[in-house]
Amino acid sequence: MNSEQAQQEILRLSEIINFHSHLYYVESRSEISDFEFDSLLKQLQELEIQFPQFTLSNSPTKRVGGDLTKRFETVTHRYPMLSLSNTYSEEEILEWENRIKKLVDEEVEYVCELKYDGVAIGIRYENGQLSKAVTRGDGAKGEDVTNNVKTIRTIPLSLKGDFPSDFEIRGEIFLPIAKFNSINSERELKSEPMFANPRNTASGTLKMQDSKVVASRGLDSFLYGIYGEGINSTGHFESVQKAAEWGFKVPATPLRFIEKTNSIKEIMNFIEFWNTNRLSLPFEIDGVVVKVNNYEQQTKLGFTAKSPRWAIAYKFKATRVETELLSVDYQVGRTGAITPVANLLPVQLGGTTVKRASLHNADQIEKLDLHLGDFVYVEKGGEIIPKIVGVNTEKRPSEAQKINFISTCPVCNGLLTRKEGEVGHFCVNEKFCPPQVKGKIEHFISRKALNIDGLGDETVDLLYEKKLVTTAADLYDLTFDQLLNLDRMAEKSANNLLFGLELSKKIPFERVLFGLGIRFVGETSAKKLARHFGSIDDLMKASYDDLIEVDEIGGKIANSILEFFGDTEIQQLIDRLKEKGIQFIGEKKEFNKGVFTGKIIVVSGVFSVFNRDELKELIEQHGGKNGSSISSKTDFLLAGENMGPSKLKKAVDLGVAIISEDDFVKLLNN
Ligand code: IVH
Repeated sequence: MNSEQAQQEILRLSEIINFHSHLYYVESRSEISDFEFDSLLKQLQELEIQFPQFTLSNSPTKRVGGDLTKRFETVTHRYPMLSLSNTYSEEEILEWENRIKKLVDEEVEYVCELKYDGVAIGIRYENGQLSKAVTRGDGAKGEDVTNNVKTIRTIPLSLKGDFPSDFEIRGEIFLPIAKFNSINSERELKSEPMFANPRNTASGTLKMQDSKVVASRGLDSFLYGIYGEGINSTGHFESVQKAAEWGFKVPATPLRFIEKTNSIKEIMNFIEFWNTNRLSLPFEIDGVVVKVNNYEQQTKLGFTAKSPRWAIAYKFKATRVETELLSVDYQVGRTGAITPVANLLPVQLGGTTVKRASLHNADQIEKLDLHLGDFVYVEKGGEIIPKIVGVNTEKRPSEAQKINFISTCPVCNGLLTRKEGEVGHFCVNEKFCPPQVKGKIEHFISRKALNIDGLGDETVDLLYEKKLVTTAADLYDLTFDQLLNLDRMAEKSANNLLFGLELSKKIPFERVLFGLGIRFVGETSAKKLARHFGSIDDLMKASYDDLIEVDEIGGKIANSILEFFGDTEIQQLIDRLKEKGIQFIGEKKEFNKGVFTGKIIVVSGVFSVFNRDELKELIEQHGGKNGSSISSKTDFLLAGENMGPSKLKKAVDLGVAIISEDDFVKLLNN
């Protein structure tokens, strides 16, 4: 989908959702099922994550400034979840202190903390057990995301030490930058649209239906506030230390994530320190929060309608500079994807020199109406890669040329295409375009694939230039003498490389499969495919229907696999790699024998006793396989509530047995 289509689709979905939402909430009637409503909302949410620039300010996904959706149960907060008032200068902090001094005429101690750029969460613990986790929502009511929060490893499920019997702890859930980057690289590899920033990704992730996917994303947390009766602390700082004793991940003092201070000077010092150093943190922050430490003083100060008087946020300004756009380069990836990159007149920004900025795709260039020689605004807020956010058109040279996206590949001159439903351009010359050919080899040898020690991208370049290697299989024909002839290759490194190639013959099938670089087949799908089929031969024989039986393999991946193995050159490559001794047989995951041995079961809908992941686990434990969509090979449809009508119809049409959760449990018990 290109960005124009995305914008229209966001508008269309928002209108439909608003219409049904009004019917439901105001007129207490509905024309569509909850399931249909939820999937519309989900489509919209996903589009908004991918194209945040088109999100409507009153989007139905953010009702009342919050994030209420119908997919999770709504829970009323026991203590309203307020927000903080924002300040941007020392002056405003001083004004805040003056207001405090008018209401509290004694010494005031402050606590400075980081303002984590994530999603606020309130987690209730009863008798030391995590009982409910609720998002902020509109501040009065939030969504019950307990199952998803339980997947976050830094959030304890049961507590240790001397904790109150019933309390709520609040904090922030966020996605570390490294996780965000690796999710995006995986998405790029699969040619899926990339996520905009860690915060949106964290928020989207927390509201996913499948908690297994949530678990795999690697969310993290910091907890910073305790609410409830029986909390034996006199102040905020002490409470945070106690929370650490009960097992929570709280901001660490030695790292200066939290600090007790007595004066505005010290507060400004903390703010300055983090304004300078924030970009070196492994997670994103967008400011600093200052709180009055003492609980009695907090009570005296109380609240305004929206926020506590005892706390304030100091927001960092996004660091923005203006510089000249010198030229635009186009990079070609291993899949042929073309990424435009801006070359800038080097400029200092947030402690680093910026020379280049990603331009994402043709739509972005068009949207910015970029011209060569333009003075552009470059920003590095929390984001990792600096981006061009606008153009100073007043400074545009009179004859400046508009930047037109290229129509042929900058490396091989091959034609570029834009595939249906995708934003990017691709070079079609897959077999001969050098960066694509080299990129495929580089992917094959990469750490998560064949992990060939002693062989890096530079050596691949050399080997390719000398025409020694054009496919991964050629690597295994390399001789010691050929390697010694290469520039900068000494005996020791040549031996290392040969040894690395030898070792790679032990790399298990699932990683070899990933290394082949089938479009849309990332690490996880490769693993699932390898375990399901057990060998490349069986995988190559699989039909579309066989492929979509595999958990998490949908139509798009199945088609890509069929296209890949249908290519005779790929078949020859695999034959050669087999001859070299690369692993193409893996361990077919041994399923336990049980009532479901040999049966393929599709689980769909919402269940009351087990969640979907638990049911899938039970199926595997009892010898069955989980299918992802219904086909003639499906033995049972395990149907919960709110199932999609089309799935149900397909099951009926194909005569697939439909069983309830009750039936399932009975079968297990027999
Ligand atoms: S304290 C009464 N401390 O900022 C509000 N909030 O703009 C108490 N946030 O919704 C909030 N880091 O999601 C607090 N160290 C921190 C924070 C923090 C991030 C978020 C939180 C809140 C929003 C308010």
